[in-house]
Amino acid sequence: MSETKRTALVTGANRGIGLAIARALAEKPGMQVIAAARKLPDAEQAAAEIGHDSVGVHLDLSNPVDVSDRARELLGEFGQIDILINNAGVLTPGSASEISVEDLAESLNVNAASPFALMRALGPSMRERGWGRIVNVSSGWGSFDEGLSGPAAYSISKATLNAATLSMAQALGPSVKVNAVCPGWVRTRMGGLAASRSPEAAADTPVWLATLPADGPSGGFFRDRRLIEW
Ligand SMILES: NC(=O)c1ccc[n+]([C@@H]2O[C@H](COP(=O)([O-])OP(=O)(O)OC[C@H]3O[C@@H](n4cnc5c(N)ncnc54)[C@H](OP(=O)(O)O)[C@@H]3O)[C@@H](O)[C@H]2O)c1
Repeated sequence: MSETKRTALVTGANRGIGLAIARALAEKPGMQVIAAARKLPDAEQAAAEIGHDSVGVHLDLSNPVDVSDRARELLGEFGQIDILINNAGVLTPGSASEISVEDLAESLNVNAASPFALMRALGPSMRERGWGRIVNVSSGWGSFDEGLSGPAAYSISKATLNAATLSMAQALGPSVKVNAVCPGWVRTRMGGLAASRSPEAAADTPVWLATLPADGPSGGFFRDRRLIEW
């Protein structure tokens, strides 16, 4: 991969795990990072911090229909996007009997429907060019196997993202690898200061999935580079 030029779009690249993923990808030879953030000044600041060939772009994930339009604009602007990291996410507290329907809809939009819109808009052109990598930053709290044990809106939306991962992996075929990752418990605004893992350590498996070789896996859910149950 060192000789080939690749362009990677990272959502929520302005802080936390997204910034660490964007930084690590930007270090790879031939890699241009598109650092996407909800607010353009945050994206531009992130790109300045990341350096290399990176560019900051505005991308608000609140409305998946707007996200589809914006993704097509970005594809036109950059010509090709080879790697998509669906990293941005929201965590709304509360059990299923406490949250509002609006809370659930917001979480589904940001954590699942907008990532789907990005996959839907960018995946087919990856397939046409015969190479693509999509990484969906999910959570063990979205795993049925682990009991969907997080706050309800978050767990439901991450389980939906997991389902979208498998569905899109089946649709995009072998040259485009689509995988989900649980980054662990990470010291970010979402994870809090007590979390056990640094954002840099959490970026390891997403970056590995973003740069998988041709015989790498697709349609899987990973933690610490190991397959886990959905
Ligand atoms: N931290 C953990 O322990 C942990 C564990 C498992 C999974 N994860 C997952 O890892 C991913 C990154 O989380 P993090 O810990 O780095 O969280 P974070 O520091 O809270 O960062 C969340 C990112 O998502 C962005 N975002 C939220 N809503 C958005 C919207 N409507 N449009 C565009 N961007 C939006 C935020 O942008 P703003 O700065 O504009 O708000 C920010 O860049 C998330 O998908 C999260 O679910 C985290």
